[in-house]
Amino acid sequence: MTMLKEGRPTAPVTVKDAHMAPATATGNRALMLEEALIFEIGSTDTTGVDFAPAPKLATRLGGLERGAIGLPGLSEQETVRHYTRLSRQNYAIDLGLFPLGSCTMKHNPRLNEKVARMPGFADLHPLAPQSTVQGALAVIHELAEWLVTLTGMHAVAMSPKAGAHGELCGLLAIRSALEARGDARSVVLVPESAHGTNPATAAFCGYKVEDIPATPEGRVDLAALTARLGPDVAAVMITNPNTCGLFERDLKTISDAVHAAGAFVYCDGANFNAIVGRVRPGDLGVDAMHINLHKTFSTPHGGGGPGSGPVVLSEALAPYAPLPFVERQGDRFVLIEEESAEDHHAGTFGRMVAFHGQMGMFTRALAYILSHGADGLRQVAEDAVLNANYILRSLDDVLDAPFGGSGPCMHEALFSDKGLADGFTTLDIAKGLIDEGFHPMTMYFPLVVHGAMLVEPTETESKAALDQFIMALRSLAQRAKAGDEALKGAPYHAPRRRLDETLAARKPVLTWEAPTLAQAAE
Ligand SMILES: Cc1ncc(COP(=O)(O)O)c(C=O)c1O
Repeated sequence: MTMLKEGRPTAPVTVKDAHMAPATATGNRALMLEEALIFEIGSTDTTGVDFAPAPKLATRLGGLERGAIGLPGLSEQETVRHYTRLSRQNYAIDLGLFPLGSCTMKHNPRLNEKVARMPGFADLHPLAPQSTVQGALAVIHELAEWLVTLTGMHAVAMSPKAGAHGELCGLLAIRSALEARGDARSVVLVPESAHGTNPATAAFCGYKVEDIPATPEGRVDLAALTARLGPDVAAVMITNPNTCGLFERDLKTISDAVHAAGAFVYCDGANFNAIVGRVRPGDLGVDAMHINLHKTFSTPHGGGGPGSGPVVLSEALAPYAPLPFVERQGDRFVLIEEESAEDHHAGTFGRMVAFHGQMGMFTRALAYILSHGADGLRQVAEDAVLNANYILRSLDDVLDAPFGGSGPCMHEALFSDKGLADGFTTLDIAKGLIDEGFHPMTMYFPLVVHGAMLVEPTETESKAALDQFIMALRSLAQRAKAGDEALKGAPYHAPRRRLDETLAARKPVLTWEAPTLAQAAE
């Protein structure tokens, strides 16, 4: 091992038999603390606060009052420690590379956070008079202009709150446009290489969903798609770049054929980070496309939290866009809502959200765009693609890359489980990655590939970080090919060992129940 001049090793010392270490009395491992459920730490008989009993007032709940609800009482310090210990068991992009494919877990620049926390943006009330929030409306308007320019489209609906919500918005606009011309249609075509939310959205909108197969090289089967077009087809939903990490080169030809058949093209733009600044979907004939601000423009992915999925629209669909939207009138910004829409936006299909969308995401995304500039955004796409190809080519000698021969990949590298020893699976490699200190890659998706492993490194990772990840994945692939039985027991070093994933999915235990007296006595 190389030593620094101070005598310290340059690489961490590896303890090969760490999992053989004796158990500790507490269950803690070094400074990584074991954590019990909050109900097991606190007692329902105690309280962490010292308030005088509430005065007996006449009830205002009309008989809906509950009795004791059994919340554990903890002191402030115990509460803070409980949640801090739990948070340390989370993996996060701020701890290390997060290779989840189709998720774009990139670094969220701190500048974005600083901008979003400025009181003028963070403390806004959605019902504040428009004259008092001109700066916020200007931000929404400027971001909208950037999105329209970057995509080469005609208009943008800013309010949808996630990618899937954006898909719903796009399909509702398509349905309104068809109904406006008295041509309601019933079918949406979804290629096999599309993201799973696409068929779900189409079905949610009441359309019949029909699959279009992928070619052996992982792209939409153009002949099968054009053969299926007809007067019942409302739209085709295409993910580009697709979930195999490939660019759909035939998209313009597909769009022309779809338009000739009187239908619309919905493009799932969640992977826009691979082409931003290089390709404008509007030039490829797209009619509607959502952009996941929380991916391409680096706003954080909240746990079920603050996503944002603005939808860019073609000229044909713009009249049906949802309310509200921001319009510039001279030197003022005006929010067009129901009352003002009557005269010049009567075709709107309605409203998707109560207010205006995710202001905190808008400020972050605009900060990201302005700090990169047009050339910086182009470099984002180039580096995202370069990093993914680096991973693909560094590992295709040990892992099967089913579409490795279809040319360079876009922003994600796709591998399959072909060639692993009998009985070894993608899951074993994923669990092994946890021991190596990485969040696992996306597993078993896309469905067109057996035992898929989808790796999206993003443009924000350095070569050193990629090399460390490649080293880890290479070693796991070699172990899985050699039939190293120990891999089947991974993870060894995580707070919990391998769980029964089927049982956890089929019979999840999501609520805590107080033990019975007999159980408590055991
Ligand atoms: C290709 C693709 N489409 C759509 C979505 C849905 O986006 P959201 O999770 O914001 O609803 C995702 C999210 O993972 C995606 O990767």
